Amino acid sequence: MPLNILILGGTGFTGPEQVEYALARGHKVTLFNRNRTRPDFFKGKVEQLIGDLNDDVSALKGQTFDVVLDNPTTFPAWVRNAAQHLKGNVGHYIFISTESVYPNNSRPNMDETDGTTPMPADLDPYTIVRENAGKYYGALKTFAEQEAERQYPGKVTVVRPGLIVGPLDRSDRFTYWPARIDKGGDVMAPGTPNDPTQWIDARDLAEWMIRLAEQKVIGTFNAVGHIRPMSELLYGIKAVTTAGAQFTWVPADFLTAQGVRGWRHMPVWMPPTGATGGFMSRNNSRAVAAGLTFRPLSITAADTLAWNKTRTEAELKSLAEGAISGIPAAKEAEVLAAWKARPQGGPDHE
Ligand SMILES: NC(=O)c1ccc[n+]([C@@H]2O[C@H](COP(=O)([O-])OP(=O)(O)OC[C@H]3O[C@@H](n4cnc5c(N)ncnc54)[C@H](OP(=O)(O)O)[C@@H]3O)[C@@H](O)[C@H]2O)c1
Repeated sequence: MPLNILILGGTGFTGPEQVEYALARGHKVTLFNRNRTRPDFFKGKVEQLIGDLNDDVSALKGQTFDVVLDNPTTFPAWVRNAAQHLKGNVGHYIFISTESVYPNNSRPNMDETDGTTPMPADLDPYTIVRENAGKYYGALKTFAEQEAERQYPGKVTVVRPGLIVGPLDRSDRFTYWPARIDKGGDVMAPGTPNDPTQWIDARDLAEWMIRLAEQKVIGTFNAVGHIRPMSELLYGIKAVTTAGAQFTWVPADFLTAQGVRGWRHMPVWMPPTGATGGFMSRNNSRAVAAGLTFRPLSITAADTLAWNKTRTEAELKSLAEGAISGIPAAKEAEVLAAWKARPQGGPDHE
């Protein structure tokens, strides 16, 4: 049965994949956004309501939907604002939260029953301003999850992704690796070949969310891929390139001493010890049981690389310079040289 779906957002990263998949399965799609991000992306294909979740939701007045996919919300006030018109008029509310709701990342295999981040008692969660979104991200998303349940009791699905990857991702947190490996040469690889990594292709996430809507699945889910070793990620990406890159594995301690940070400079990786001991190994079995599937890494890598090659010169330059994520090329060369010149040697090429 075709669904009447409202997608809040829809033109950024995960949203477009939801739109395409929903349309392909015969659903009716309406978008609500400010018409700033890719304004013409779906022109003529879907209905678009224009407004701002922050302060102008009037376009939602009088509308009814089978299901709402809430993509952009971090602020609880955005859930409340939309609910002024949507409360009582939607059958199912699917909210994209994040794994960042979990304050404890020290242990592997933690599931959805793990504790989430409370809002500091002295802060009003409805009035926190954008400048503080990063600082209180986990607490805001936690409170927004709860706000959704308050507004649509018994009708909420919370999807908590880890790192979302693939074409259209402007954060470069995964794209760094296909782009770097495609250049060839000596590639600095972080930690050990066995260190765990975890990500989710935006298309797998988006398609699963539409299937959750079709089956009206209610609940809370960690939306992350299976845990894979860092070497599988890097060699898997290498398999879709032709430049013959080689990897030099540099241990976590040495990277730290050189000022190289996991995640920021070496994306899709965190040292699997101490406070980040479980950061890249969350339990995904509840989502898998609810139908989450994963396309092969080769597809994610090849498509991300192909998309990356369509980006502007300025974006590609900023990627090579590590402006958003990834280590700048010059710094990578410097750290590799220091590693090779270290006092005690030993095999370092894989
Ligand atoms: N990227 C990751 O690795 C990651 C990991 C975990 C969780 N998440 C979560 O994943 C979610 C998905 O983000 P996405 O970029 O994939 O979603 P998306 O729907 O593809 O893009 C964001 C959309 O929100 C709209 N938007 C932004 N501000 C708005 C406002 N004030 N009012 C109305 N619409 C607004 C944008 O359009 P306009 O600019 O035209 O308004 C755009 O269409 C986010 O909630 C994020 O917290 C991301």
